[in-house]
Amino acid sequence: MPRAKASKPAARHAELVREIKAHDYRYYVLDDATISDREYDKLYRELRDLEEANPKLLTPDSPTQRVGDQPRSDLRTIKRETPMMSLDNTYNDEELAEFMRRVTDRLKSGAKVKYCVEPKLDGGSIEILYRDGRLAQGTTRGDGKSGEEITENLRTIRSLPLTIEHKGPLTLRAEVVIYRRDLEEINEIRTGRGDAPFANARNAASGSLRMLDPRQVAERRLRAMVYQVVEGPQIAKSHADSLAKLAKWGIPSHQKEKVCADLDAVRAAIDEIEKSRADYPYEIDGAVIKVNDFTQQDILGSTSKFPRWAIAFKFGAERAETKLHDIIVQVGRTGAITPVAVLEPVELAGTTVARASLHNEDVISNLDIRIGDTVAIEKAGEIIPQVVAVNKKVRTGKERKFELPSTCPICDSPVERREDGVASRCTNQRCPAIVRASLKYYAHRTAMDVDHLGSSLIEQLVAGGKVGDVADLYDLTLDDVLSLERMGKKSAQNVIDAIARSKERTLDRLLTGLGIEMVGHSACRQLAEVAETLPAMLAWSEEETIEKVDAISGFGPKMVESVRSLLHGDTSRRELLEKLVERDVGRPQPKAAVAAEGPLTGYTFCVTGVLTRKRDDVHQSIRDAGGTVHDKVKKGTSFLVAGEKVGKSKLDAAKKHGTVVVSEADLDEMVVNGVPNEEA
Ligand code: IVH
Repeated sequence: MPRAKASKPAARHAELVREIKAHDYRYYVLDDATISDREYDKLYRELRDLEEANPKLLTPDSPTQRVGDQPRSDLRTIKRETPMMSLDNTYNDEELAEFMRRVTDRLKSGAKVKYCVEPKLDGGSIEILYRDGRLAQGTTRGDGKSGEEITENLRTIRSLPLTIEHKGPLTLRAEVVIYRRDLEEINEIRTGRGDAPFANARNAASGSLRMLDPRQVAERRLRAMVYQVVEGPQIAKSHADSLAKLAKWGIPSHQKEKVCADLDAVRAAIDEIEKSRADYPYEIDGAVIKVNDFTQQDILGSTSKFPRWAIAFKFGAERAETKLHDIIVQVGRTGAITPVAVLEPVELAGTTVARASLHNEDVISNLDIRIGDTVAIEKAGEIIPQVVAVNKKVRTGKERKFELPSTCPICDSPVERREDGVASRCTNQRCPAIVRASLKYYAHRTAMDVDHLGSSLIEQLVAGGKVGDVADLYDLTLDDVLSLERMGKKSAQNVIDAIARSKERTLDRLLTGLGIEMVGHSACRQLAEVAETLPAMLAWSEEETIEKVDAISGFGPKMVESVRSLLHGDTSRRELLEKLVERDVGRPQPKAAVAAEGPLTGYTFCVTGVLTRKRDDVHQSIRDAGGTVHDKVKKGTSFLVAGEKVGKSKLDAAKKHGTVVVSEADLDEMVVNGVPNEEA
């Protein structure tokens, strides 16, 4: 009977997924593999082949579906003897003086201390090992104690010599950066072929380092700048001398170090770096102040997190002043109407800025922003600039107040200002701007992953009236697509095939693609695990919906209400769900039972800020250890894993909900050893 036959591959599939995940956990988390790489690859290939032969078996959580499609066996983890630490941060003069006082206090009285002041480069950190004069090994920072092996990728960095005349062991720490002009070019190429541009040079650099194909890495034009000699300090007596020695051997460093004898000189050196920030061809985000003498560094030692001989002085966001020519409005996926500043193009942090988000009417009225004003803009860590202030002194009186239009600029429907929020919305669900944005969201790689459905195609489909909601995609015929501009037969067929393939996505991705307010990707997965199928979800009564959703860990009242309103609120969204069911879109969600049992079972995490690894990878390591991931800090979130540049709102939310804030290093520890005993 065909049924019995089909269940065999399914059982083997489940077994392989379970086994490979367990090996991943042992290899990456416990660092205690029980099979060889070859045996691992055999299992991996069997799984891949099985899925190719039985596409129905493919689930998004299969090890073959990892983000970036990386067979994980390729980046080896390497433990290091001296962990890579981070630097203590300061933003003000008092703390800087306090640091210097602590240093002199700890050293024998009367000791003369010199400080080396240098830029803090904003890229990805690596460790490089030279043995017998050869570039022997490269690793990423990883969790500090161990990193991923990227030797072949480092070999593509042309500025890094493959051989040096010094034959002794040499362990170096460096920052890998991308020049701003190179990043602009790389981003142009990426957007040209429909890929998302990198948000900043740091992401581009750290992402590139971990790519599997060194030929692709070579295209990223990475540069390594050494900032520390870890093993081999016998080559010099001080930090500054060690950098000079490296320069002699052709090893690149930033070459901007300055040796200073007192606070005033240190302060002046920091100012100098900050003033010339825009002249650096790569991003810097502060200055690093280091005790110069290696013997003194050794005496000072380190705490569990930071060396006591160094501190980072972080710079604030870069600011620029420019003219506000106009305020236009954009309509987003939820209908939210966002005012956008049209600016006189201005250089900021190495890029030209011509637009900035103004978020909502309240921002405009609080800052009293008027068209024609001279405004200050800042980049808040990332690439999107913000208007942060108005220079009222230079007003001429000709400036005009801005008023949000009372009708949608795209479809002319009335705009509604909701009582509970600051956003104004277009009320017409069929507004072309909303439909376009919804389709883009639906087709995104992390949602329904509809290949070939790019922006211009979406625009044509909507403008031509061929698609009015995401379900209409499934009614498109080959002729419909063929009738569009510049569309060949093969491309049209590709589009149709990709749309058909998207029906096979599991429920969590379908829900993600629909964009349920307040319910992010991780929460959609939890919801999908409870519902299993869309028809089952639609069969829930209103009471059942509230009861089931309220029971999901981490779902607060607003999320419950959002799901309730999706299923039992205004009829148009329910009708869309029914349309999707009629078109057989979506596959059952595998039962939550596949979730790993591990040291983090029963705990929930929210991850935020800039981390050393991709956020998806951090999420996965939490799940692999049995933990649950929340998109936001909310009722029941046990831990907030805070990387660098954490937003204040996240920390405030943690305080409110009694969520414990931990570092990425703390998380790495917990993934292995579990949550420390609270009484301990
Ligand atoms: S010295 C902690 N010098 O900043 C060990 N670090 O927050 C001593 N960084 O992981 C680090 N420029 O990736 C040092 N001139 C510089 C640096 C620098 C950038 C990065 C580095 C480190 C991180 C610490």
